[in-house]
Amino acid sequence: MKGLILVGFMGTGKTVVGRELASRLKWDMLDTDDLIITRAGKSISRIFSEDGEPVFRVMETGMLEALMTDNMAPRVISTGGGIVLAENNWSLLRNLGWVICLTADPEVIRQRVGTAVDRPLLAGTPEEVRGRIYKLLQERQEAYAKADWLCDTNQRTPAEIADQILARFNMEGSINV
Ligand code: S3P
Repeated sequence: MKGLILVGFMGTGKTVVGRELASRLKWDMLDTDDLIITRAGKSISRIFSEDGEPVFRVMETGMLEALMTDNMAPRVISTGGGIVLAENNWSLLRNLGWVICLTADPEVIRQRVGTAVDRPLLAGTPEEVRGRIYKLLQERQEAYAKADWLCDTNQRTPAEIADQILARFNMEGSINV
């Protein structure tokens, strides 16, 4: 059975939907940002400020490679919003499972990320954050569209989104109650 890999822009709900899926399937859930923080021993913001974004991107690829070799049971993996940018990450993502991209409108994203910390790409004044969301979404649109399936999360609860994903990949039969 293939795992479920959640990609998508910051604030599209990858972590919360991932937890919902993992709890229904009784699968493990991993988050590449959390794994990187543990491995590096520092926050994402510190990695960006002390080492730079390119180093963080190398860490992301390294994490996908490490996940490829640990040969575990199927699991849910939520990823950082920029993991789709490196072309060579795609074969790794696809090997780990179905790649599902969660999407949301820019204004919905803006509201969801409003109070979040540790997102260096969305630091700044509300106007700066708004501008950056629109710009990055546009720049990344093509990369997100490479996913096996795009799932709209506007106006939907994590439970509803999980229902849709499980139905789309015929996984209802795998739910352990
Ligand atoms: C990033 C998204 C973040 C984190 C880092 C960079 C991005 O993860 O990986 O701040 O480039 O979109 P979330 O999408 O989980 O916020």
